[in-house]
Amino acid sequence: MTASLPTAREPGTAYRIGTVCLGNICRSPMAATVLGELVDRAGLADRVEVSSCGTGGWHVGQPMDERAASTLRAADYDGSDHRAQQLGPGWLAYDLLLAMDEDNLAGVHALAGEVDPARVRLFRDFDPVGPGEVPDPYYGGPQGFADVLAMVERTGVAIVAALERM
Ligand code: 4NP
Repeated sequence: MTASLPTAREPGTAYRIGTVCLGNICRSPMAATVLGELVDRAGLADRVEVSSCGTGGWHVGQPMDERAASTLRAADYDGSDHRAQQLGPGWLAYDLLLAMDEDNLAGVHALAGEVDPARVRLFRDFDPVGPGEVPDPYYGGPQGFADVLAMVERTGVAIVAALERM
């Protein structure tokens, strides 16, 4: 049993999903690229927008980490348009913010004070394999990036299935 999606804040406008990590150059842009592509393939592109940000600002304006980008390319996803953005108050208007790990979730809570727990949660709350974190691959080897891709693909499929049921 996976989590259910919160209702749209403004019916009739695009449902906005933001993925959140630390640097916004590895995990959350990988998740947003894959989820965005799955949304597109499902024919939901005019109803759902997906973007990503990081709780830290060190990489703002930079493209994705090359290891993340090449992991995506090898699986036929294109993350070349990504430029890193930092989490700020505007993101709190999203319908759903999905944090990659508990630290990132705490970062959203630190910005927001009180949040609707249905709208700010861990990305893997929707993972059909079970809940958990998407571990930070930045200081590790290629397997970490492959693991991130597998997690975001299977979880993205489940999120799109839930979007189709909305
Ligand atoms: P991300 O990975 O949060 O998945 O984008 C990281 C990127 C950069 C850093 C840490 C994690 N950093 O320390 O610069």
